[in-house]
Amino acid sequence: MAKSFDMVPRDVKRIETKYRRIVTDKIPVPESMEIIEQLRKYEPRSMTGQPLVIWDRAEGFNVYDRYGNKWIDFSSGVLVTNAGHGNEAIKKAIIEQVEHGLLHNYCFPTEIRAKLVKKLSEICPEPLKKVFLLTTGSETTECAIKLSRTYGRKVGGNKKIKIVTFHDDFHGRTLGAQLAGGSPRLKEWIVNLDPDIIQVPFPNAFKYDWADESNPDYSDDKCFKTWLSYLEEQNVDFDTIAGIMPETFQGGWVQLMPVGFAKRLREFCDKHDIILAFDEVQAGMFRTGKLFAFQHYGIVPDLVCCGKGITSSLPLSAVIGRPDVMDLYGPNEMTSTHTGNPVCAAAALANINYMIENNVGENAARLGEICKEFLTGLQKKHPDVIGNVKGVGLAWGVIFVKNGTKEVDPDFAHDVCRISVENGLLFFAPVGAGATIKICPPLTINEEALREGLEVFAYAVEEAKKING
Ligand SMILES: Cc1ncc(COP(=O)(O)O)c(C=O)c1O
Repeated sequence: MAKSFDMVPRDVKRIETKYRRIVTDKIPVPESMEIIEQLRKYEPRSMTGQPLVIWDRAEGFNVYDRYGNKWIDFSSGVLVTNAGHGNEAIKKAIIEQVEHGLLHNYCFPTEIRAKLVKKLSEICPEPLKKVFLLTTGSETTECAIKLSRTYGRKVGGNKKIKIVTFHDDFHGRTLGAQLAGGSPRLKEWIVNLDPDIIQVPFPNAFKYDWADESNPDYSDDKCFKTWLSYLEEQNVDFDTIAGIMPETFQGGWVQLMPVGFAKRLREFCDKHDIILAFDEVQAGMFRTGKLFAFQHYGIVPDLVCCGKGITSSLPLSAVIGRPDVMDLYGPNEMTSTHTGNPVCAAAALANINYMIENNVGENAARLGEICKEFLTGLQKKHPDVIGNVKGVGLAWGVIFVKNGTKEVDPDFAHDVCRISVENGLLFFAPVGAGATIKICPPLTINEEALREGLEVFAYAVEEAKKING
């Protein structure tokens, strides 16, 4: 198990810049311990994994506690607040909807839901034209599995039910989402796994030579053929596959597929009448500089799962897909109590309009180049502890390793996270195998604040090296 964040307040130095302020002498702030202890008493242990900063309010790319401290936020609250924390346009839309007087709608028709699904359909490429609103990302991946299998059974009977997903992928924490997830440890509790939901390797250059980016064959058949051999190893008849669901980039590493691989995957799905569903819960909504990360591949899936940044705030998610697949179920057969809650729908609509009107995707793409240059430079400086740097737009992952090997180092990553937080830079706890620090600020961050945050991160790496000898 990775280190947890210490309940014992540590001495920290005072910081006062345009974008950061640390004015308490200790973090966690001693006065905040009562709240932390209360949470520990009433919530499960699983809720104790994040740095011990009490979020009091958040604005733009800053998070504030109530004790005078202010952080540059590189978490976006787990890649949610793409349009910035407390975005005024979103706040206004929420308040207007609340004051208008409709807080809930179930599946009864409402104008706000109609406006949102129309907008989502209009901004999506063909054939992604029908939209099913849900509440969480996990629900969307569950729904994609259900629609893929239902489609498979329709065209191929009970033999065409296999769902193929990828090692190391994450699709959420509910049963189906965990069956599809690529971390065996997370699904030990299920015991009786579904033999028709299977995993194969993701073409990850850090892990596999056959996906080596420096290999000239990288984007031609070699990579895809190797991947197919992993299906053959499991005796999979390709025509029995109902659906393939990758994370568009793997969240644990911010690892994209090679473009050539993605194109062949699309052709393979067409050839075998397989539903290709991209899980864009994390990758979508301009995070990578484009509306969807699959647009970097030049292909379009049959289904796309959206969540997180779709509202930059309240809980709402969506499956958007091919009309013939989305219409597989009859009236009242695929619904949810909170589908398209009107307040959440108002937030989503205002968020999407804001992001389009303010070109946040362009900002993410431009700042992504700065991250790339800075982080690859940092890796060159510290090859002994930084094993890999991956990313696009404003989603970057820095993987920490032991002594320049490929063995990941969760304890080191944890120290980097803690030292950053003590210096006014907020990350969520390391992910992936526990050794990846994710750099994912709101897409509205400016260059000056981004550079300041990156410098704090570099400082934290150096300080962590001192501690770890
Ligand atoms: C790629 C991906 N899919 C699905 C989920 C699950 O979303 P939620 O936590 O909203 O259920 C997440 C959440 O981190 C995710 O990153």
